[in-house]
Amino acid sequence: MLRPGRIADTVGAVSQLKGVILAGGKATRLRPLTYVTNKHLLPVYDKPLIYYPLEAIARAGVEEVLLITNPEHAGHFLQLLRTGSEFGLRITYELQEEAGGLAQAVGLAEPFARGSKLLVILGDNIFTHDLSASVERFRSESHGAVIFAKEVDEPEHYGVVELDGERVVSIEEKPAQPKSSLAQTGIYLYDERVFSFMDQLAPSGRGELEITDLNNIYLEEGSLRCETLDGWWIDAGTSHDELLAANITVAELRRRGEL
Ligand code: G1P
Repeated sequence: MLRPGRIADTVGAVSQLKGVILAGGKATRLRPLTYVTNKHLLPVYDKPLIYYPLEAIARAGVEEVLLITNPEHAGHFLQLLRTGSEFGLRITYELQEEAGGLAQAVGLAEPFARGSKLLVILGDNIFTHDLSASVERFRSESHGAVIFAKEVDEPEHYGVVELDGERVVSIEEKPAQPKSSLAQTGIYLYDERVFSFMDQLAPSGRGELEITDLNNIYLEEGSLRCETLDGWWIDAGTSHDELLAANITVAELRRRGEL
């Protein structure tokens, strides 16, 4: 016999959507800043970097969040973020034991997701775009995934998205010859089938399961959409210069009341 709680869970699962923040990694590109702490805890103007994606998730109307990080720094995140109530979120924590890549980290969210769709955000992405409308639309769709693209000056440092109108033609991870200037940002929406695709992934040249390969599975299935971000976006964790640029722009946006 099903208990009432079980019935409620099953019915609610169809349109439920939870958040996942990926905040692991060694951040070798940001050494020596990252020898003793995690890059997502470094300051960006007046807040730790991780605050920005968490605030974006809260703004999108998503309340339950899983933060995935590496064992060495998990305690720092707990001390700082605690339950997440300061953000209006309920944060739980998961460990990524080895540097297995972003797609492997997404796979760790399976017990947390329990049949929900997911909004996944990389912990070093800062942006002004409000995701609420995209999240609402995705909740009502039957299946698929969404990536968010942004025009950039040096696309070879990112996943590069090739579009034909609204149709995604290809996504290539850090290609030497980019087919467009559209970067794949670190914001993704996945349906609840995402975990069943993990065993189709193989480690890339750098020995990691790549998020781009995961997105390409949806692309081949014909169920991947791409939306474009309005406003300002930065991946603050790629270099010292990008981290500095993030600090300067966030300070300016805050003065103008835009972030
Ligand atoms: C990752 C993704 C890349 C994406 C970028 C956005 O790269 O692999 O496709 O464009 O995030 O932040 P990383 O910064 O981990 O090298």
